Amino acid sequence: MNQENPRDWEGTLLKYRFAKTMLEAELEILLKEHEHRTGNNPVEHIKSRLKSESSILKKLKDKGYEFSIENVEKHIHDIVGFRIVCSFLSDVYDIVNIIKESKNFKILEEIDYIKNPKDSGYSSYHLMVLVPIHLEQKQEYIEAEIQIRTLAMDFWASLEHKLQYKLPNDIPVYLKRELLSCSDEIKMMDTKMQHLYDIVKKYTDK
Ligand code: GTP
Ligand code: MG
Repeated sequence: MNQENPRDWEGTLLKYRFAKTMLEAELEILLKEHEHRTGNNPVEHIKSRLKSESSILKKLKDKGYEFSIENVEKHIHDIVGFRIVCSFLSDVYDIVNIIKESKNFKILEEIDYIKNPKDSGYSSYHLMVLVPIHLEQKQEYIEAEIQIRTLAMDFWASLEHKLQYKLPNDIPVYLKRELLSCSDEIKMMDTKMQHLYDIVKKYTDK
């Protein structure tokens, strides 16, 4: 890696690592407390990752920037990445609200790709947050991306990603159309499941 001061770069990566640890703990507390209070656990599973150095460099290059710590901090928003996969559509919005109501991080941006799916058919709710980390000398805020989606959305995104990866150059139009149609079917399934969930809740809330 061609940077002037390797210690600075290591220090930067360390801060992202701290932010991931903080966010992991914070999300666990928020979601466990929610489960304790409501008796409902909306989470199927949570994945988290730190973007590898090679992926950071590649993304920076793809975006047309040279490597510098400043460029990494300014242009790469998902070095700390979380994916919260939940059961029902309403769970996505419950989790979004739980996170937004927390005083422990700042919300930078929210994008509802469920109400407004991407052209590919991708849907998920994205929250960009700033996680405070307490260092010896000062407090800093580190960016993290949290993707919140249902099992069905996760199924579509994982398989679509695999197919895209196998065909990195522009994928044929008919494949795009088929993927879009799969995404419509996923959406119908989520809506049906939500309907069934609402009926079941009416019985159990009595
Ligand atoms: P960034 O600079 O990476 O933030 O690019 P962006 O703002 O154009 O992308 P966005 O924030 O909307 O999405 C970032 C992440 O969402 C990606 O890294 C993927 O994990 C996921 N994502 C977005 N679009 C798709 C898609 O079409 N298919 C799949 N499988 N995942 C997607
Ligand atoms: Mg983005």
